[in-house]
Amino acid sequence: MKRASMGTIIGITFFVLLVFPFHAGSGEQTTAEGIPPQVVADYIHAIIQADRTLYTTHVVERMEAHQVVTSQEYWKQTKSLPLPAQMLLLSGLNVEQQGLGLQFRLASLHPIYEKNGPTTDFEKAGLAAVLEDPSRPYSGIIQRGTQKFFKAVYADHAVSVSCINCHNGHVLSYKKDYKLGDVMGGIVISFPVQ
Ligand code: HEC
Repeated sequence: MKRASMGTIIGITFFVLLVFPFHAGSGEQTTAEGIPPQVVADYIHAIIQADRTLYTTHVVERMEAHQVVTSQEYWKQTKSLPLPAQMLLLSGLNVEQQGLGLQFRLASLHPIYEKNGPTTDFEKAGLAAVLEDPSRPYSGIIQRGTQKFFKAVYADHAVSVSCINCHNGHVLSYKKDYKLGDVMGGIVISFPVQ
């Protein structure tokens, strides 16, 4: 019994002296010298773009080519597939509901729907900046309540004719002159930082 408790004490001491500092040390490293927020945003942006592209090519375009089902804005009522833009927005809402503080959405200075317009001066400046120079994201730290967030806006290009045809022809779109390759808006990503 005595031996066992002695062993326990030695075990705990060993843990506290050797193992715990190691973990505390590596924990500190993660927060103090961890991945820069811009890199984290780049990772998240890469995943969002990959999902959108693959959903468009492997689901929407494939199902439409085989005349199985089309993607339509009123997909719920028409029993069709959500548009890729709607899929991205839905995915952003789902992630937001997970409570990690991570948010992302599609936005534009000329949105079809007002809700997709800039909601803050930062977003307005970011969407204007990527319109001017789409080669790099517009990013910075913002404060929401007591929490700081890293926020980045990435240019969203009209990569196919379907982008411009649909937006230029949409009844609610007041911008009707999009051309192939234009920056149509941006992907806005934000997450909490210390
Ligand atoms: C078949 C129609 C259609 C196609 C094709 C389409 N979009 Fe959209 N897009 C929409 C609709 C509708 C919304 C608004 C969705 C919502 O808020 O529910 C939207 C939203 C957006 C937004 C957010 C701002 C806004 O206008 O509301 C951007 C940016 C955008 N689309 C870019 C693109 C790009 C880039 C492509 C091509 C890769 C594309 N869209 C293809 C219909 C389309």
